[in-house]
Amino acid sequence: MSVIEFLHSRRAIRNYDKREVEREKIEQLLSAAILAPNDRLREPWSFFVIQGEAKQRYEQVALDYLEERFPTKPKLIESSIEVVKSTPAIIMVTSDIASNEADTRDNEYAVCCAIHSMWLAAEELELGFVWRTRGVGLVHDQRSYEFIGSPEGKKMVGTIFLGYPDPKELGENKTKKRTSFEEKTIWL
Ligand SMILES: Cc1cc2nc3c(=O)[nH]c(=O)nc-3n(C[C@H](O)[C@H](O)[C@H](O)COP(=O)(O)O)c2cc1C
Repeated sequence: MSVIEFLHSRRAIRNYDKREVEREKIEQLLSAAILAPNDRLREPWSFFVIQGEAKQRYEQVALDYLEERFPTKPKLIESSIEVVKSTPAIIMVTSDIASNEADTRDNEYAVCCAIHSMWLAAEELELGFVWRTRGVGLVHDQRSYEFIGSPEGKKMVGTIFLGYPDPKELGENKTKKRTSFEEKTIWL
């Protein structure tokens, strides 16, 4: 498939089968990520791979977050935790905070490119992938920093949920809902 074809077929996959993701495949995703464009080659990304025992700790952190955020919604908590439990691998991605705001912002843009590269690579490797920030993605919650050891000068940008797709996901209609570029473009 060409890159343009992959861009058309790529989509968020949120349900996985139980199969573990091989380390080699995760390494292929990370190898793709670090090729992303980045200003002055600051290579501002760091990746935190979460599987096995670390994933059990992640589940507990997510549960603490959900219980605090949604104290009156036990069903939501249960279904959200089930999402974490049924995800074979999680990767948290941070961006380096630079000495000035513009560089910090450029670093974040580069990390976004890196995550998108991983997403396309996942498509080629037939892995299901979704970039999460909200809810159990924990990107906007301080607990995510504590979970990765509170490293200095890093901003959380994305939490990737990863696994082999549940076959039911693959049967779904792949048509993308997007506004046409004509409606989003001004030719000056
Ligand atoms: C920055 C960012 C944050 C996202 N956060 C979430 C999230 O918290 N939960 C989720 O289910 N999907 C999340 N997504 C995935 C989007 O919902 C998904 O990309 C969108 O619905 C378009 O579908 P597609 O990726 O299949 O084209 C996020 C995507 C991006 C780029």
